[in-house]
Amino acid sequence: MANRLPVDLERAADGTLEVKPSPGGLVAALSPVLEQHRGCWVGWPGVVGEVPEPFRTDSGVLLHPVALSEDDYRDFYEGFSNATLWPLYHDLIATPTYDRSWWAAYREVNLRFAEAAAEVAAEGATVWVQDYQLQLVPGILRQLRPDVTVGFFLHIPFPSPDLFRQLPWREEVVRGLLGADLIGFHLAGCARNFLELTRQVAGRAGSHTGLPDTLEVSGDPSVREISAHVTAPDGRRVGVGAFPISIDLDSIAHPDPAEVEALRADLGHPDLLMLGVDRLDYTKGILQRLRAVEELLESGAMPQTRFTVLQVATPSRERIEHYRQARSEVEEAVGRINGRFGEPGRPVVEYLHRSVPKARLAVFYAAADIMLVTPFKDGMNLVAKEYVAAHPDGSGALVLSEFAGAAEELAEAHLCNPFDLDSIKRAIHQAAADLAYRPGEARARMLAMHRQVSEHDVDLWARSFLHCLEERR
Ligand code: ADP
Ligand code: F6P
Repeated sequence: MANRLPVDLERAADGTLEVKPSPGGLVAALSPVLEQHRGCWVGWPGVVGEVPEPFRTDSGVLLHPVALSEDDYRDFYEGFSNATLWPLYHDLIATPTYDRSWWAAYREVNLRFAEAAAEVAAEGATVWVQDYQLQLVPGILRQLRPDVTVGFFLHIPFPSPDLFRQLPWREEVVRGLLGADLIGFHLAGCARNFLELTRQVAGRAGSHTGLPDTLEVSGDPSVREISAHVTAPDGRRVGVGAFPISIDLDSIAHPDPAEVEALRADLGHPDLLMLGVDRLDYTKGILQRLRAVEELLESGAMPQTRFTVLQVATPSRERIEHYRQARSEVEEAVGRINGRFGEPGRPVVEYLHRSVPKARLAVFYAAADIMLVTPFKDGMNLVAKEYVAAHPDGSGALVLSEFAGAAEELAEAHLCNPFDLDSIKRAIHQAAADLAYRPGEARARMLAMHRQVSEHDVDLWARSFLHCLEERR
């Protein structure tokens, strides 16, 4: 179960509901897993108010909608989930708001989700709860249905205890999570943060088996599971581990070269095509990368190269103030850069503020010489992995923030510090220079990353988590 179903329902003018794919990495990762297991997905269908009865997707997954009212949307989704937890867990890139009425809504909606799961889960079922919007569900579900096995996976970073301790309801959140049998994070660092936190915060709520200096590595090394245990208030041993999420390589289309060529022609045959694909979120560092491009143009650092930046920004959480601000800053920068450096019919930055069909995204990935992924903080970042998967021949280059979880696995990328404009500029410059003057080196980097992504796909992620969870029955 997850806050969102894999489809968003949209109410058309005549009142009927239309079905669209819903945004984000969680849905991209989990859809193939559920299709394979033919399980039931409990979640919100992206439209406020009344929801339809459970229905099946074309690929056979049973969807069980949970309703959110206008007030729930404001206080639970926009408020506590995305204006309290999101900035707190992303290391305070924006300042979190701590609002008691939002917390009340979070508790109430988590109860509703837990009740829905309790209603649909078969005797002794496995329930896999996803992400920061539903951290109280494991604890509630355990009380409602002690027979089910509960896993929890966090798709965003887990902050250091020093930051987390700001949260006025920190103990309740930790207790909620400890209702699970297994708690998974993307990175070992996040798992360590959680273990350290349980020692500091939940000390009064329950005992701790002791914090290991280095997390114990166990099981099949190719699964790379890292595990430790925390003792919950009711005496159960709860597993804690790192399971880096990945992508379904089969779902990455390899478009017809003619389509790729047509895109480059539409863009005026640039020497270098750079691409950004993100939800329009202030954590993604879109403005920083545009400013780096602007400074490269200003300084004439790449004189022989006529480049275009194609930036796709999916609308996201648009009523929240920090998101509005991020959008207006990005759009102002796009206008400024094109005004300063574009030519009639040839802007430097091509900007799309909308969702794009997967097949079209595949053309963008295949056409791009350099992919720009520069978040200030990101749990994993699947876009980076999708780009690598789209280049099985080793073409292209990836500029990647050190603060994206993916940087731990894609070490051959041109890594940069997104807080340092010079570092982003150096990474772009180096990627372009490799492509132009050291093609063998550029290819070797991309091939190494392609191998990594091929060997660690989303199926491995799901299997290793579910295997660890199964072992805890
Ligand atoms: P997040 O989960 O924070 O949104 P990720 O990079 O992990 O970030 O995942 C984003 C997912 O959304 C990827 O699968 C990507 O292909 C998809 N995506 C991003 N932008 C768009 C877009 N404009 N149109 C369609 N899909 C998009
Ligand atoms: O990966 C983080 C996440 O918040 C997911 O939980 C979510 O599906 C995705 O990003 C998109 O966000 P939202 O559901 O708020 O549009």
